[in-house]
Amino acid sequence: MEKQSELQILSYINQVPKAELHIHIEGSFEPELMFEIANRNGIAIPYSSVGELRSAYKFGDLQDFLDIYYQGASVLLKTKDFYDLTYQYLRKAANDNIVHTEIFFDPQTHTQRDISLETVVSGITSAMEDAQKDFGISSYLILSFLRHLSEREAFEVLDLALPWKDKFIGVGLDSSERGNPPEKFARVFEKCRQLNLKVMAHAGEEGPWEYVADALDVLHVNRIDHGNRSMDNLELLERLSREKIPLTLCPLSNLKLKVISKLSNHPVKMMMEKGLIVTLNSDDPAYFGGYLNKNYFETAKALNLNMEDIKVLAINSFKASFLPLDIKKYWIEQVEVFHKNFKP
Ligand code: HPA
Ligand code: ZN
Repeated sequence: MEKQSELQILSYINQVPKAELHIHIEGSFEPELMFEIANRNGIAIPYSSVGELRSAYKFGDLQDFLDIYYQGASVLLKTKDFYDLTYQYLRKAANDNIVHTEIFFDPQTHTQRDISLETVVSGITSAMEDAQKDFGISSYLILSFLRHLSEREAFEVLDLALPWKDKFIGVGLDSSERGNPPEKFARVFEKCRQLNLKVMAHAGEEGPWEYVADALDVLHVNRIDHGNRSMDNLELLERLSREKIPLTLCPLSNLKLKVISKLSNHPVKMMMEKGLIVTLNSDDPAYFGGYLNKNYFETAKALNLNMEDIKVLAINSFKASFLPLDIKKYWIEQVEVFHKNFKP
């Protein structure tokens, strides 16, 4: 990309209205806020400074990351902690011109430490309400099951969460993928679908393409989180395109967790060419070195994406969202208007 167009692309990315659909709220926990909350809760962090903690963010694979991510989340104790965490992310998101976001939270990471679900959900959702008022950003919450835990534990946390069912729009499946295939949660997901919850699952991040196919066949997901390994099976790619199953891709996450060796190997462009509804997302931005606009920009540079491609990705982010149809249409039109009027 030559200099002029790089700046143009950056300005386009910064300004275009967009949605983020794959963000773990615990993964937006910046070291500065982590130290602040740890201090006020009287908890010691096993790092002497923000700098030292940040320099520990070198991961060989998904599990390396998860170990540090769960350790970080363990300083969250009170409603205000969850509020501050969520409000900080939403302020940053609004600054990136994200107008709508669908946020994962991992209830079991907290209930296992005897933090009540009420503490977690009330902190997160009051920040979501305040951010809507303060920045005009809309957001939905998604309850994610930890797949390294048992089916029984997933059922238990679902039961615990039912009093707050109107506070979350759907359920997801995250944590250690390999060895924890979708079918382990077939019955929990069936119950969630009966409860009219949207369903999605991380699949094909480290696990094989078969896990993506199983998430479709066994869990009947509305959306796949990551799904990189779908590239290994042409029939599956064609199916994702035909059935219009969106993928929430996370390029900087993939780079940091060594799912890809360099950004120019990221499959987003090939997937777009195959007609898939793909979106870009930050996953765990405090750990992976960038929020949403940085994911767009670094990917655009590495893969030579142009403004037309960015426009498609922004439109896809609304298409793939769980927003009501009329609101989706409104935002897609806003992207079109922005694109037409964009003067670099
Ligand atoms: N993969 C699986 N589990 C996760 C991730 C991820 O990228 N981020 C937070 N939990
Ligand atoms: Zn994720």
